Amino acid sequence: MHRWLGLPIDDLQEAASVELIKAVVNIASVKSAEEIKEIEKAVTISGAMHEAAMKAARPGMKEAELAGLIEGIALANDGDVAYPVILSVDGQILHNHYHGNTLEEGRLVLVDAGAETSGHYAGDITRTFPVSKTFTAQQKEIYEIVLKAEIDSIAQTTVGTRFLDVHLGAAKIIASGLKDLGLMKGDLDEAVAQGAHALFFPHGLGHMLGLDVHDMEDLGEQYVGYTDSLSRSKQFGLRSLRLARALEPGFVLTVEPGIYFIPQLIQLWESEGKFKDFINYDKLTDYLGFGGIRIEDNILVTPDGPRILGHPIAKTIDEVEALRNFK
Ligand code: GLY
Ligand code: MN
Repeated sequence: MHRWLGLPIDDLQEAASVELIKAVVNIASVKSAEEIKEIEKAVTISGAMHEAAMKAARPGMKEAELAGLIEGIALANDGDVAYPVILSVDGQILHNHYHGNTLEEGRLVLVDAGAETSGHYAGDITRTFPVSKTFTAQQKEIYEIVLKAEIDSIAQTTVGTRFLDVHLGAAKIIASGLKDLGLMKGDLDEAVAQGAHALFFPHGLGHMLGLDVHDMEDLGEQYVGYTDSLSRSKQFGLRSLRLARALEPGFVLTVEPGIYFIPQLIQLWESEGKFKDFINYDKLTDYLGFGGIRIEDNILVTPDGPRILGHPIAKTIDEVEALRNFK
């Protein structure tokens, strides 16, 4: 571009045609049958990576051993990883690529990993499983809330629905589940409107998926996920939502709610007295070593409703525990 246009490299971004960007995004947001097939292949390989991790994990292993195992599955299928593997007992640290911890009984492992096919399409899947053979009662309670948020959000991923509203629905399910456990309190509509739930769910519900894991993001996320009349919020949590606009047939996107207990954030907000009408800080002391849970699938929006791409990947507590007990 620098040579063609005779522009300094530093000026290229500034000179880009917004009209052209919007046209490219319009075309590339709707996936063709061939593209869907390729993404589905990526998701199925990604599922094999996750189920291999669930079967192989043992107390005493280093995270790196499991990360290497699953990355090898992506390579062995004539592809690569679509992004650096996230595999950590510290799931509360988002986008954490450190693999130096040892798996210890009682902890959770959060794995966010996806394959890229030889045709360069991406899968982006997250699962969370216990290092022990079974979840603890406390882990099960949080897991069930995240699972409900994921399943209900997938069901809402329909033509014409704004993904912003799906995100806010997931936030409400999370806040409601946490209220049932006594961790949140008060008027939940108000709590979600003000962003109090973002202490536990500080990221967006999902993003477009395709040739890039955050598809087309180099074109400018505002053009991919937002419109001239729908702009990105500045509120903590909501500002991390990459996709907000109304869904169309042929969109492929991720749905990935999570609940995290981030000790530093809890301590900061508590010291500031932030959202003390919505958060029971006293109750959170029991959760400071919990880590985090995220569950993520890849969805095709169709006129007949949402379709989860790829072969089903163990997701319910029973399915995950069955693989943890695999001999
Ligand atoms: N898989 C990482 C992300 O969606 O940000
Ligand atoms: Mn994702």
